[in-house]
Amino acid sequence: MTESTDLAFGYSDGDVDTNNTANPTLNALIEQRYSRRDALRSGASAATVAVFGGGVLAACDNASDAADPFPNLVSVGSSGATSSGRVVTLTGEATDSGAITSAWVQTSGPAAALIGANTPNASFIAPSVSAPTGLTFQYSATDSAGQTTQGSVAVTVSPAVMGFTSIAKNKNDVVTVPAGYTVTVMTRLGDPIAAGVAAYKNDGTDTNFAQRIGDHGDALYWYGLAAAGARDDNSSVRGLMVQNHENLNVQYLHPNGPTTVGGARPEAEALKEIEAHGVSVTEYVEGANRAWTYVQNSTFNRRITPNTEVVFNGPVKGSAWLRTPFSTDGTKGRGTINNCANGHTLWGTNITCEENWAGYFRRDNSGAETDNAQRTARELVALRRYGVTANAGSYGWHTVTPSTAGDTRFARWDARATVGGSAATDWRNEPNQFGWCVELDPYDKTQAPRKRTALGRLGHEGAWHGKFIEGKKLAVYLGDDSRGEYFYKFVTAASWTAADAQRADRLAVGDKYLDSGTLYVAKFNANGTGTWVPLTFGQVPNRPAQGSDVEYVFEDQIDILVNTRLAGDAVGATKMDRPEWTATNNVTGEIYLTLTNNNATVRPLAGTDAANPRHYNDPTGPANTAQFGNPNGHILRLRENADDPAATGFTWDIYLFGADSADSNSDVNISGLTAANDFSSPDGLWFSRPQNAGGLVKPLLWIQTDDGAFTDRTNNQMLVAMPGTTGDGASVTITNRGSGGATATQTTRRGALATDATLKRFLVGPVGCEITGVDTTPDGRTLFVGIQHPGETSGTTVPSPLPSNWPASQAGPAPTSRPRSAIVAITKNDGGVVGL
Ligand code: FEO
Ligand code: CA
Ligand code: CA
Repeated sequence: MTESTDLAFGYSDGDVDTNNTANPTLNALIEQRYSRRDALRSGASAATVAVFGGGVLAACDNASDAADPFPNLVSVGSSGATSSGRVVTLTGEATDSGAITSAWVQTSGPAAALIGANTPNASFIAPSVSAPTGLTFQYSATDSAGQTTQGSVAVTVSPAVMGFTSIAKNKNDVVTVPAGYTVTVMTRLGDPIAAGVAAYKNDGTDTNFAQRIGDHGDALYWYGLAAAGARDDNSSVRGLMVQNHENLNVQYLHPNGPTTVGGARPEAEALKEIEAHGVSVTEYVEGANRAWTYVQNSTFNRRITPNTEVVFNGPVKGSAWLRTPFSTDGTKGRGTINNCANGHTLWGTNITCEENWAGYFRRDNSGAETDNAQRTARELVALRRYGVTANAGSYGWHTVTPSTAGDTRFARWDARATVGGSAATDWRNEPNQFGWCVELDPYDKTQAPRKRTALGRLGHEGAWHGKFIEGKKLAVYLGDDSRGEYFYKFVTAASWTAADAQRADRLAVGDKYLDSGTLYVAKFNANGTGTWVPLTFGQVPNRPAQGSDVEYVFEDQIDILVNTRLAGDAVGATKMDRPEWTATNNVTGEIYLTLTNNNATVRPLAGTDAANPRHYNDPTGPANTAQFGNPNGHILRLRENADDPAATGFTWDIYLFGADSADSNSDVNISGLTAANDFSSPDGLWFSRPQNAGGLVKPLLWIQTDDGAFTDRTNNQMLVAMPGTTGDGASVTITNRGSGGATATQTTRRGALATDATLKRFLVGPVGCEITGVDTTPDGRTLFVGIQHPGETSGTTVPSPLPSNWPASQAGPAPTSRPRSAIVAITKNDGGVVGL
């Protein structure tokens, strides 16, 4: 804190009203300018910390009328310094013989929204600045005679920095956050989201997941609502939480795990498991004293399950690939499954992505692909490439004998082609209905979700947009999350026009941008450049025969979009270490990609390349079990040539390498992690919104882990970073070490080393969880984080004792309660921007 040398004291004697024009007074102008954004903030905390303490300043009494002196200004606090996103409290103090009123106005600098402007102590959140910037505020005390005494105070705001102490790794059964923050548990597995639905008993007897929060909450995103219920992208107090429900902890969904009767799953159990997948839309509100709750009976609430009718859009719509008994013309389908990461659009929609969908389908009978004779050689190549192979079907849903004749909601999970059957009589094509990006309108539950086939069919992790630039095409970045899979980009045919952002027909805007364009796959070169290779029919060679696969000759563009992985193979795309989430730095336009991990089978010692450079052992557990490959993962970033989303070339480096800082050398701990910021298996990835100081100038990057390699040291966690830019590091050559002592060298391009100021641990989750799903309210003052599958075990019966009691354990010690996936809301106790 610096003591001011230029405090401006003054007063007005109230008799200079000689200007009779209608022009507003200077103060009125100032008030208009600086109060415009007040509505963006609410719920000023009573506990805001006064960063400017009360240096009491001598005030002059310039009163001319001894009988009724002007207010005596005791203090306006002392001038000081802060940084963007932090709460500043202004403290005015005046005395008078009678009552006085107080008013604060801003008189210079970038606009700050004052809370409590008509009280002695006003506050504001320091606005985003890119260099130290002065703001001044004027305090006015007015007595009952209308006599005003004024004083000013100056505040210097510096660019945002992370304002918390990195927390320690731990294995506690709670969500741990830094000092000064509060965790509120929001929607949990099973919570009712429709009027009249009973509270979740959490003993395995609950039903009706079509009106409850699903299991395994994954990616999430906030869609603001105005008080009157319309879409409002700036609302931070009322909104719709859209969350994916990826999978199940099936052992906790039934009284004691899933059962079979005579080899068949009971219908009610299977229905519950199916409906616990999909997407939820739930209204969230911030009440008095910043209390966050969800609205059970909101008319906006919605569940999209694997049984919800959806439509197909884009080039594959109506093709033979999509024809099933449910949709003999291949234009519609039922639901979405294994929804992992997501995307959002500037026109107010959500994109949910179908990841590990293949395993839900049955194709075997005792471990063999028993319908091979009914499949063409081409079909078999495609089925194997997507893993629709010798599966029994993850949860055996196809074994259900439905109570209602003609109910095909269970049989559809049996993808075997029948003897003498066809796509109109069996479910041979049902797997082709999955593996897509699905756009939905959170604000209109009457609209069926649309599967956007132009974005290709993969194990889609997410669909995150690049920068929206007026007049330029849009890019959507797509990870295919499996070991050795590829990284893709879709470029729209249409160019962005901002007028589309607030149209009411949101899914029609989606049609405009997401139904036609060009799909590309990435090739990474050792010199730090890369190429986007178009997957366009006529430019993609045949995929060569390999093993039992015949040569695959693409028939048309539809074939390429359905069998995108085969097209990636054919053009020689770079095999990656499990491409997960992507995130866009809205300031630089750079794209970040998590590569969560890989193993020695898929990437052996001789299989590294510059973009996937490591091979080493990170032993884990008391038995020091070997984990060779790239068990800790890394985060790659790229910058499109000329910052054009449609560019076909880019530069790249590796922003950050995960590592166990305690037992790894510089060949493994390449980014220089310390105990305060080491991590493993980055997965969720998100830059703060550009609507607040966390997402401007040097945006915060939130990194979430889905790890099994580092769990000997800590539960899964979330870090916050302030990254530099692509190419800010150096070319390094590392020595990789395989089992048996073999070594090999690999050159790569690492970003600037991490420091304790640029990378901090913000959150550690409860036992057995993965951290996935992150967003804030537009003001950045409430952070939402998904805690997925606490207490996960490999068994299918309820373990005893329970490995985790979260979220019940968040409130205090020793409750016994089945663990539930849930969203937490995290607020900073002083009301500032989370993380700053
Ligand atoms: Fe569902 Fe790729 O994590
Ligand atoms: Ca994920
Ligand atoms: Ca280790």
